[in-house]
Amino acid sequence: MNAETGQSALQEAAKRNLWLHFTRHSGYANADIPIIVRGEGQYVYDQHGKRYLDGLAGLFVSQIGHGRREVAEAGARQAAELAYFPLWSYAHPRAVELAERLAGQAPGDLNRVFFTTSGSEAVESAWKLAKQYFKLSGEPSRYKVLSRYIAYHGTSHGALAVTGLPDIKIPFEPLPPGGVRVPNTNFYRAPNFVADDITAFGVWAADEIERAILREGPQSVAAVYLEPVQNSGGCFPPPPGYFQRVREICDTYGVLMVSDEVICAFGRLGYMFGCERYGYTPDIITFAKGVTSGYSPMGGMMVSDRLMEPYLKDQHTFLHGVTFAGHPVSCAVALANLDVFEKEDLLGNVRSNEGAFRATLEKLNDLPIVGDVRGDGYFYGIELVKDKATRLTFDDAESERLLRGFLSHALFDAGLICRADDRGDPVIQLSPPLTCTQEHFDEMEGILRGVLTEAWSHI
Ligand SMILES: Cc1ncc(COP(=O)(O)O)c(C=O)c1O
Repeated sequence: MNAETGQSALQEAAKRNLWLHFTRHSGYANADIPIIVRGEGQYVYDQHGKRYLDGLAGLFVSQIGHGRREVAEAGARQAAELAYFPLWSYAHPRAVELAERLAGQAPGDLNRVFFTTSGSEAVESAWKLAKQYFKLSGEPSRYKVLSRYIAYHGTSHGALAVTGLPDIKIPFEPLPPGGVRVPNTNFYRAPNFVADDITAFGVWAADEIERAILREGPQSVAAVYLEPVQNSGGCFPPPPGYFQRVREICDTYGVLMVSDEVICAFGRLGYMFGCERYGYTPDIITFAKGVTSGYSPMGGMMVSDRLMEPYLKDQHTFLHGVTFAGHPVSCAVALANLDVFEKEDLLGNVRSNEGAFRATLEKLNDLPIVGDVRGDGYFYGIELVKDKATRLTFDDAESERLLRGFLSHALFDAGLICRADDRGDPVIQLSPPLTCTQEHFDEMEGILRGVLTEAWSHI
């Protein structure tokens, strides 16, 4: 402890040397940076020993929860046996085993795995795969990608061009050309002409994809990126029939359907892959996060043999790769993580408890600030409003005061890690470890009730 500043050496070094991601550092000028030092099950602990319920699974990552020795030890054993070898012209056993296991679990004919180290790399790799695929298949003019308003698909330049959040794109423009936006599936904010009929809303939102393809010229469109449940904006599940209609549209115009499952795969929605829940088979699945539950970084994409086929002929090569993709330690950890899924039937746990999770969160509907509670599986958004009857949202200044000025700190201080976000309308998001049960749902609801009640008194 520094006697003059009263801060620990770790805190001082954090402020002096560490650059946090997506963080307004001025917010920590007169406040401590929270330092999380360990985790156990559904909880994490800060440097003072205070416990927090990890209602966001870190960042939609820690599916099996924290502190699993068997998964950590699988990584350590692999590091001792073969710490590193690239997937550039070579294979190693854990990458092969993991690819085979994922292929066995993926829907439809998706059976080829290309590993990356992150979700952004997966999203970007899928775009590059699509572009080169079309060049090799005699349709070289296809390069554009469609994605939905305020959807987040990552931060590298290519992934950012797919992302639909203007505020995080503008500082980095110009981005690679070809990103085109289509409506998302926020039924709470549906246009008036379909606001009373969720099926009609879904048809309209899907048909907007067709209209965008026609507007851009079908021969220029390579892919459409969709999350099973859109995260950014606060968990928008698909309306009934939406994905079936999108699949039809993609087939009609020869556009590849990419299911960006960086959040929604690996049990988040009670299925290994989110697309299974909604009954569609995409051409590409991008994944990351939950594949290792965060015990080591990993991402990837799964594709069908059809997409691989042109790359198997002649001298063609997918001219793309990254040093640490399919890292042996990450592959070993992913396999151990999937063992936990099986041993503890985590998919079953989500499916049998998701109704109780929803019902517990829906109790918050009696608060005047809660406009909408939405989501599926263990993935929920709570939209906050100024007026429940009219669904009036907060203006920018109010949102700033409410979310950054009060809610984020108050929820954390009350012992709940979740996300207060205003990249769309203000929402609180929950995405807890898949091991959570009623006691954790009650704890989340209790903390949210207290803090949201106080928030209302500040408005
Ligand atoms: C749907 C989706 N795609 C891509 C990404 C980018 O993943 P990463 O942060 O691992 O690059 C994210 C991250 O949250 C995501 O939610």
